[in-house]
Amino acid sequence: MEIFGGGVVLGLPNNSAYIGSNAVCVAPLGWQRALYRSFGWLYFQRLSGYLRFCVTSRAAHIPVLPDEIVRAFCLESGQTYVDCTAGLGGHAVLLASGLAPGGRVVLCDLDEGNLSRACGRVGDLDLQVAVEPIQGNFAALPRAIAQHSWQADAVLADLGFASNQMENAQRGFSFSRDGPLDMRLDPSGSTTAADLLAILPEAELVRILREYGQERAARPIARRIVAQRSREPIRTTLQLADLVRSIVRKNGRIDPATRTFQAVRIAVNDELGSLEALLAGIERGARQAAKQADNATLTARQADMVVQTHGWLAPGARVGIVSFHSLEDRLVKRAFGRLVTAGLAEPIGSQPTSASQAEVAQNPRSRSAKLRVIRIVADKEQKLPTYLV
Ligand SMILES: C[S@@+](CC[C@H](N)C(=O)[O-])C[C@H]1O[C@@H](n2cnc3c(N)ncnc32)[C@H](O)[C@@H]1O
Repeated sequence: MEIFGGGVVLGLPNNSAYIGSNAVCVAPLGWQRALYRSFGWLYFQRLSGYLRFCVTSRAAHIPVLPDEIVRAFCLESGQTYVDCTAGLGGHAVLLASGLAPGGRVVLCDLDEGNLSRACGRVGDLDLQVAVEPIQGNFAALPRAIAQHSWQADAVLADLGFASNQMENAQRGFSFSRDGPLDMRLDPSGSTTAADLLAILPEAELVRILREYGQERAARPIARRIVAQRSREPIRTTLQLADLVRSIVRKNGRIDPATRTFQAVRIAVNDELGSLEALLAGIERGARQAAKQADNATLTARQADMVVQTHGWLAPGARVGIVSFHSLEDRLVKRAFGRLVTAGLAEPIGSQPTSASQAEVAQNPRSRSAKLRVIRIVADKEQKLPTYLV
């Protein structure tokens, strides 16, 4: 039974409503009565919990900056779109129809569960578009795409975690839900947050909290972690959150544990290292695309004499990255800036693009989102003035 419809209002026995974005489906009273008759009240409550899980986990993640991304990418039928962070498929669903018929959507995610949800959602659209899943770190995606001899016309990385990962207490991302201190985006990864807090020397903890969390109380927090772990291991999210709250006082609406959780999550998943590797892959792809465009101007005889190397980015490809904190945005800004200065890319739209007030009101997660998009310059003759793109 598929209740998901992009946006769903589902009548459940406790009158709860779960709202997504497009269609509306209200379970009719007769349907509810029939279920109750068939399954009994207890079973129905369990079923409603399951339905709620399906609805919230598949519908509640609203993609950020949707219009801005669709406009910036200008996808055409037959093209290849690479989503480095498939998540719940929100952006992929929006963009896939622009590729039909005959295009290709390559979906990548560290989280196997999310990857299969995203593939399912794009597949459910029933477009004449190939859906290609790649489970793993986007750091390795440029090479994987090249190995398949695909060329991307558009690439998106919407960094960080998805709402279902945050909401699931068992994943350990949330400081307001008690659960194991895990924080791995790839649940099969080797090191959890609890492992890191158990083994890192105090100086390294200070560095992580300072660098990745911009936490001013890095030193006392690290000292307290080391003292506490000598008595008993720090295993749960609330243990860590309470430890931080006992040192940093709440100032305004932000929970004092926010910066520590961000820092530990970045360290567990080596998020900045992965982003740097992706940016290096984009730079390599841009250089190969420029060479490919140059080769296209050679005569047939000259072309025979050079080794034709096709990189993973098609000449003219558009690359967009959405970041959620200044550490990520700084890396993206510098890398894109280097490509623009080298004449290998040009910026598209305002740099960076932020969410409108209307979007922030509808989707608070978009408040800190910053989108930067570049177009890989294939042929300087074809280079469009910024106001036309
Ligand atoms: C913000 S969500 C993406 C949401 C998606 N754009 C959507 O609209 O549904 C980020 C996703 O990227 C994945 N992710 C984060 N870092 C990754 C990495 N280095 N490689 C691959 N996937 C990653 C996370 O597991 C998560 O599912």
